[in-house]
Amino acid sequence: MENILKYINDNRETFVEELKEFLRIPSISTNEENAGDVRKCAEYVKAQLEKIGLENNMILETPGHPVVYGEWLKAGKDKPTILIYGHYDVQPVDPVELWTDPPFEPSIRGENIFARGSADDKGQVFIHMKSIESHLKNTGKLPVNIKFIIEGEEEIGSVNLDNFIDKNKDLLKCDYVVVSDTAMFDHGVPSICYGLRGLAYMQVEVTGPNRDLHSGSFGGAVNNPINALAHIICKLKDDKGKILIDGFYDDVLKLTEKERSEYSKLPFDEKKYMEGLEINGLFGEEGYTTLERASGRPTLDCNGIWGGFQGEGAKTVLPSKAAAKISMRLVPNQEPDKIEKLFTDYVKKISPDSVKVTVKSLHGGKGAITPIDSPGMNAAVEAIKKGFGKTPVFTREGGSIPVVNTFQTLLNAPTILLGFGLPDENAHSPDEHLNLNNFHNGIISIAHYFNELSKI
Ligand code: BES
Ligand code: ZN
Repeated sequence: MENILKYINDNRETFVEELKEFLRIPSISTNEENAGDVRKCAEYVKAQLEKIGLENNMILETPGHPVVYGEWLKAGKDKPTILIYGHYDVQPVDPVELWTDPPFEPSIRGENIFARGSADDKGQVFIHMKSIESHLKNTGKLPVNIKFIIEGEEEIGSVNLDNFIDKNKDLLKCDYVVVSDTAMFDHGVPSICYGLRGLAYMQVEVTGPNRDLHSGSFGGAVNNPINALAHIICKLKDDKGKILIDGFYDDVLKLTEKERSEYSKLPFDEKKYMEGLEINGLFGEEGYTTLERASGRPTLDCNGIWGGFQGEGAKTVLPSKAAAKISMRLVPNQEPDKIEKLFTDYVKKISPDSVKVTVKSLHGGKGAITPIDSPGMNAAVEAIKKGFGKTPVFTREGGSIPVVNTFQTLLNAPTILLGFGLPDENAHSPDEHLNLNNFHNGIISIAHYFNELSKI
């Protein structure tokens, strides 16, 4: 390990410079106009896999953006096979005017590198690439068999990936899946994530009269779609944060007493949390703590709402249409398809006859939970201790990585979530960044992880 660690230390700056090239590619998967950039990014990833010494590297087509695959399978049949998963696509950058530097011109300020995708997830994918490079360049081998898949549609719900995995079960067969696409619990608190939430994302459209109307002539006599939509939204959740959709909680996997006790031991400072967000109070389901609400319990949020006049000044108008995007974060055992149906039925039930209401499902994904006592988890604990000098804590995350559930069901492989981002690194928001110490320690941890895994 000594020469591998020396290589990682000697190349600390070089690795950051190389990461910049990855971050310069605007691979925004949801934007049609960036489709060429997404493809270019897939080609970049394939070239990197080639460069670090993986074999059988290829771009595999899907009906959407492609998946990139590479492998190194010469560790021997007695060694475990590890499938590393990540994503090379990124979120849109708007509101772009709130970025200090342009989102695709990576800049280093203080201990951080700023760019869209730096934390979510290119920087974290790069950690794995550089750990592999460090092993192969210095010893000519890896301690375990490695398969690497990097997809281009995670930020749009991994819509084609389940099918891809189903069709490529042999290619992807493995003992463990390792994913770095989550955050550490806090600065200086490395963590291993054992649970993710699922998602059901809906759009509700409300149509009133066949055209915008003078609000003086018609107001009071014709239902206003914005008011009607506001009423519908208010009936989805009570003022204590409980979701009112019939049957919504039926399948929720309850938090165990043991889990709740572990949650309560995490080093969480509620006051600092509020200060960081500049809020005066917290809000959430009664009977649960902030950490439980944010990752172990389901929730419902309006993500966007529009309709009517949004320009400067006042325009007296009763609009013809209004709409909202509403997402529900789910917990394990809640099925997105079932929740979409319950949501649709409930919205139809509470909608007034005086407007037309349509409900669409945009995308969804299942939550996941992994046992924390597997040999792969124990090996991860050892690796993090070596990389960060601290024992990691176990956490659940509120975000979603839909494919994790698929890995567990289709490949029957436990997934280890070793995240090196931080909760305040602005993923999906302006000025996204990645802490460069965590980037460096992440490379060291993964290099150790391969060794630790070879012992199991
Ligand atoms: N890296 C995130 C997942 C994540 C978010 C982990 C927050 C830990 C904390 C991932 O790239 C992501 O954003 N996923 C989407 C999935 C969705 C589009 C199905 C999410 O959670 O919104
Ligand atoms: Zn993301």
